[in-house]
Amino acid sequence: MIQTQIIPSLLSMNFASIENEMKRIPNTVNILHLDIMDGNFVNNISFGPVVVKHIRKYTDKLLDTHLMISAPDRYIEEFYKAGSDMISFHIETVQDTSETIRHIKELNMKAGIALNPETPVEDVLPYLKEADYFLVMSVHPGFAGQKFIPEVLRKVEILVKEREGDDFAIEIDGGINRETSLLAKKSGADWIVSGSYLFSSVDSNKRIEEMLNDR
Ligand code: DX5
Ligand code: ZN
Repeated sequence: MIQTQIIPSLLSMNFASIENEMKRIPNTVNILHLDIMDGNFVNNISFGPVVVKHIRKYTDKLLDTHLMISAPDRYIEEFYKAGSDMISFHIETVQDTSETIRHIKELNMKAGIALNPETPVEDVLPYLKEADYFLVMSVHPGFAGQKFIPEVLRKVEILVKEREGDDFAIEIDGGINRETSLLAKKSGADWIVSGSYLFSSVDSNKRIEEMLNDR
């Protein structure tokens, strides 16, 4: 069984004090989510390997790097060198999905396939045995603070059904708060990414514990 994880999305943290923000992250958190946006695949631009390297200095948590960029293969090695432990890329951005998975795994990182809200789940089903995790986007990628799209929960349910003997994790990302995290967990999501909801609170640790324990 894959353990439920609440995964803070650092896009909403205070980048002026990365060191302090890393100290605030509680022990129950094992993974941090890093959103990489290129202004091409998505409209927004966030940060690149230099910032990932800086974050790496201040934390031992696993760094889950979500590439929302047009040519992910060109940058996999750079994010590896910067300290990423897992990399997800969008299925909409690659020619040869298996090849990109292989590229990530060759560097001893976990490989994830992300899919936009309008991308059918059937597109990722051929890769159930190859990918380590699937990132179901529950908002349109590009910005924090958007409203959760409940229709994507069906994709989570289909992935759960198809999982059988495979041990991939199902991650959900976008618009997660206390209510939507419970919906996602009930549908079978294992890894729950949350950005603005967590970082807008003075007591984000309490919110993490609540989301972890709600049933
Ligand atoms: C959206 C990003 C998300 C985002 C989540 O493009 O992939 O990871 O940071 O932020 P919230 O939780 O505010 O929707
Ligand atoms: Zn993300």
